[in-house]
Amino acid sequence: MRTHYCTDLTEKNVGEDVVLTGWANSYRDHGGIIFIDLRDKTGLIQLTCDPEDSKEAHKVADKIRDEFVLIAKGKVRPRGEGLVNPRLKTGAIEIVVEELIIENKSAPLPFVIGDKSVGEETTLKYRYLELRDPDMYETFRLRSKAAIAARNILDANGFLEVETPILTKSTPEGARDYLVPSRVHSGEFYALPQSPQLFKQLLMVGGFDRYFQIAKCFRDEDLRADRQPEFTQIDVEMSFCDQEDVIKVAEDLLTAMFAACDVDVKPPFNRITYHNAMEWYGSDKPDLRYDLKMVDVIDIFERCDNEIFSNIAKHPHTNRIKALKVPGADLIFSKREMKSFEDFVRKFGAGGLGYFQLKEDGLKGPLIKFFSEDDIALIIERTELEVGDVVFFGAGDKKTVLDYMGRFRIFIAEHEKMNLIDENRFEFVWVVDFPMFEVEDGKVKALHHPFTMPKDTDKENVEEIESIAYDIVLNGVELGGGSIRIHKEAIQEEVFKLLGIEEEEAREKFGFLLDALKFGAPPHGGFAIGFDRLMMLISKKSSIRDVIAFPKTQKASCVLTKAPSAVDNNQLRDLHIRLRESAK
Ligand code: AMO
Repeated sequence: MRTHYCTDLTEKNVGEDVVLTGWANSYRDHGGIIFIDLRDKTGLIQLTCDPEDSKEAHKVADKIRDEFVLIAKGKVRPRGEGLVNPRLKTGAIEIVVEELIIENKSAPLPFVIGDKSVGEETTLKYRYLELRDPDMYETFRLRSKAAIAARNILDANGFLEVETPILTKSTPEGARDYLVPSRVHSGEFYALPQSPQLFKQLLMVGGFDRYFQIAKCFRDEDLRADRQPEFTQIDVEMSFCDQEDVIKVAEDLLTAMFAACDVDVKPPFNRITYHNAMEWYGSDKPDLRYDLKMVDVIDIFERCDNEIFSNIAKHPHTNRIKALKVPGADLIFSKREMKSFEDFVRKFGAGGLGYFQLKEDGLKGPLIKFFSEDDIALIIERTELEVGDVVFFGAGDKKTVLDYMGRFRIFIAEHEKMNLIDENRFEFVWVVDFPMFEVEDGKVKALHHPFTMPKDTDKENVEEIESIAYDIVLNGVELGGGSIRIHKEAIQEEVFKLLGIEEEEAREKFGFLLDALKFGAPPHGGFAIGFDRLMMLISKKSSIRDVIAFPKTQKASCVLTKAPSAVDNNQLRDLHIRLRESAK
């Protein structure tokens, strides 16, 4: 129907006859001439309907309301002197309309297209209207380009795209499963995959050597800005490889996807061990767009005259005393603000937050009296303090201190008076050498998943066992992760044992994998990138809901289709399900 998209036209097209299609974004009547901003997926252009050019078109224009669907025929003309709109890509031109067709009407809208202040319940209910915003279209254009780039580079590197089942058995990625009842198998359930993890490993046993999939995954977990119950992974697995081979594939993949979105990133990306990430930044997904590195001062505090601190310092294996230098903070923050920082860390279990300021005449602070001259000099040296800087201290058990000091680091970087984050920077870092297990409430859990290859298992303390697992982190967001897998049955059985999974339970849950490992499984490994998170970061959005066409709300419901919803009794009977009173 059309000759051009709205924003294809420039001053170069002046004098051309064109046909444009789209929606009436807005209209204005200025002394008999009607101006319509016509919008399509690319953006806006001004239609000018002057009765002197076409009486008929002007008559039609008079009937137009917001979001009417239009077909406009006319000529491209430069806008008059002083009428150029620099905010519009097409602001230097307009279309003199010769014929105008109203192709469809529109009811009054529940919100103005592009209005970002409308609540999610409303925008998601009418998501198709929200999608009309050209800014939204741009986000999904990038998403499509990135997906195609991923396919192309993986294809070029010999990876085969394979679809794995959606109706399947539980895969342990640490979240709850979505279950699907079965009509044919009374009382039995499928699980929707939390990831294609086990199938991709079976494809390696099947000799496919290199697999990928742009895979839907389902996890019933608490939702946050970077989590949806249903999300997409770029999932990759390869055989006869080591960690370096996998990291190279992931870096090439990410570079190609960013390039498709016109962002230049340069591998190889930085690397940090899990241990250092935790000790320096208090997080296994550090944001390295800014510096703010924590320093250990437990040995200095051991010598101080304050019993609370020296007692904490006596147990350096289980406790931490960390210092975080905030450059220039003495001049930036008031005493009251510094005090309020303490309230912030208390929310995360801190007993308090001590601090020293370096003034012209030396180090100051309430705690200073407990330290010797030499130790004061050592604090200044170790934290590289300069006049005007403040150094904050967190002391207590290791887990709590690293957590709240890590959060405090982010809080400071994001503080409007510090403003340390360069929003245009993409700072990748590989976090490597993850521990294999974590112990929570006395229970051993796999930090990644139980199919990860341990470096060695003969450590006394299971928490000391490292795994060949790696996460890729971008600007403080965990973008993806992967590992080299266990390909020998005996090691897999041992790991299940360490996890407290009994032989019978292991057979029942993963017998098919254990069987497959008996039949010449090759060494293999891989990774998965969270595609939605990646697009959220590339498009500079604050939530992954902005890069998913039809996302769920914070409460995991689809307000557009009203899912989940009750089903009728016949359907339940077919599925052999009777609801509890409380669920009715
Ligand atoms: P993992 O569980 O780390 O690894 O998931 C990989 C990446 O998927 C993204 N992700 C999510 N995105 C949106 N909403 C969610 N609820 C959500 N959960 C995870 C994250 C995450 O880094 N099978 C392994 C990969 C492997 O070992 O090959 C796996 O799924 O960006």
